[in-house]
Amino acid sequence: MIILKTPDEIEVMAKASKLVAETLQALKREVRPGVTTEELDRLAEDFIRSRGGIPAFKGYRNYPKTLCASVNDQVVHGIPSKRVLKEGDIIGLDLGAIVDGFYGDSAVTVPVGAIHPRAAELLRVTEEALYKGIEQAVVGNRLSDISHTIQRHAEAAGFSVVTDFVGHGIGRQLHEEPQVPNFGKPGQGPRLQVGMVLAIEPMVNMGSDGVRILDDQWTAVTRDGSLSAHFEHTIAILPSGPPRILTKL
Ligand code: MF3
Ligand code: CO
Repeated sequence: MIILKTPDEIEVMAKASKLVAETLQALKREVRPGVTTEELDRLAEDFIRSRGGIPAFKGYRNYPKTLCASVNDQVVHGIPSKRVLKEGDIIGLDLGAIVDGFYGDSAVTVPVGAIHPRAAELLRVTEEALYKGIEQAVVGNRLSDISHTIQRHAEAAGFSVVTDFVGHGIGRQLHEEPQVPNFGKPGQGPRLQVGMVLAIEPMVNMGSDGVRILDDQWTAVTRDGSLSAHFEHTIAILPSGPPRILTKL
C-alpha cells in the first residue's frame, strides 16, 4: 500500500530532509585526499545528533554506521572504515535522518581532488538522470515514466543502470511502497498522485550493470570493477507542476 502524506506531514519530512542535505553539504567540504571514510561517518553522526535528528541507517537491519560511503567500484552501502581517500577517487555519500518520526534520504557522489574526465562524465550523467527522473514525478504520469527516463539518459551516454537496487517510497519508514526502479518501459505501474513521497536514486556503472556483495554482507561492487555513481533525492509530488525536492537546500 502506498501511504500518501498530508501537507503537514510533508513539512515534517522537509525538516528531516533539510537536515540530511545540510549534513551532506558539510561532508562534501571534508572530502579530500587523506581523509578516512570513518572520519566522514563521525562527522555525519555528530552533525545529525547535534541538530536533534537520529541517524536513519545506523542499526537498520544491523547496518553499523550512520553513513554509506561507497568508493570507486563500490555501488552502494560501503561501510565507513579506515580506508584513506586518495586523489582521483570518487565517493558516494548516502545518508538518512529521522526528525519527528519521519525520514529523509539523499545521496551524492563527489570527486576526491582531480578525477579522470570519463569519471567526471559519469557523475554528471548520473545526477542529470536523477533530475530528469524527478521531472517525470508529476500527477498523472505513471511510476515507470520516472524509471524509463533515468535509464534512457544513462544509456545514451554509454553507461548502464544498476537493476539490483531500486528507489522507494519513504515516510514514517525508510522503505515504503512503491519500489522505484531505475529502468523499464514507460507508462507502467501506479499513477502518480499528490502526497506521494519518493526517494529516487539512480545507480549508474561505467561498465556493465552487474553487481555483487562483498563478504561484509553490505558493500555492493561492480562485477567488472568499473566505477559507479549514485545520486538520490527525496521528493514530494504536488497537486500540479514539478515535485518539491525535499533534500535540496
Ligand atoms: N539510501 C539507501 C536506501 O534507501 C540507504 C540504505 S542503507 C542502510 O536504501 F544501511 F540503511 F541499509
Ligand atoms: Co534510499
